[in-house]
Amino acid sequence: MVRAWHIDESKLDENKLELSENERELVNLEDLKEHTGVLYWKLNADTYNEDGTLDEIRKCRGYTYADEIEVSSKTLPNFDVMIKKFASEHLHTDEEIRFILAGKGYFDVRDANSDDWIRIEVVGGDLIILPAGIYHRLVLDKDRYIKAKRFFIGAPVWTAHERGNPITHGLSDEMDSRKAYLAKYKKPVSS
Ligand code: LAC
Ligand code: NI
Repeated sequence: MVRAWHIDESKLDENKLELSENERELVNLEDLKEHTGVLYWKLNADTYNEDGTLDEIRKCRGYTYADEIEVSSKTLPNFDVMIKKFASEHLHTDEEIRFILAGKGYFDVRDANSDDWIRIEVVGGDLIILPAGIYHRLVLDKDRYIKAKRFFIGAPVWTAHERGNPITHGLSDEMDSRKAYLAKYKKPVSS
């Protein structure tokens, strides 16, 4: 089962990716989906190719494009620049779909209502779908290694719109995909 928990950034430094068991305020899958729109499946990392589970999800969601990305200092050009980019908060105009093959990382996603971070640990066999317009980032684990399949509907667009970037300052909040995301997942304040 996926492990996800609330994080308070002020209490986390780079050497402390994980909170200890009793520090963690766990988030279950239903709440994760309700508060963020994030979808998650645990597939069998050894048999997913033959057992048809991944193919079925791909077909069902219309993912026509697939490739693989290996995030390691040996194989990824501009590794240091790239992992910094992944780890800075951003959104995309489309879903971000990752099926983790190996390694470990943390997808941090913002709760649509509170804007607080929820940290989702991902390891081999985890399939995660982040909806278009969600603010998120990927933080690597200590070993700084993760390998994943990426999917997309049609021709892939990997453009990351950074939150609060001085150049695009404020603009990411004004994007249609951001507005559509909030319209879908942010709950109206009840009186
Ligand atoms: C990406 C992840 C790291 O955009 O959020 O590739
Ligand atoms: Ni992203």
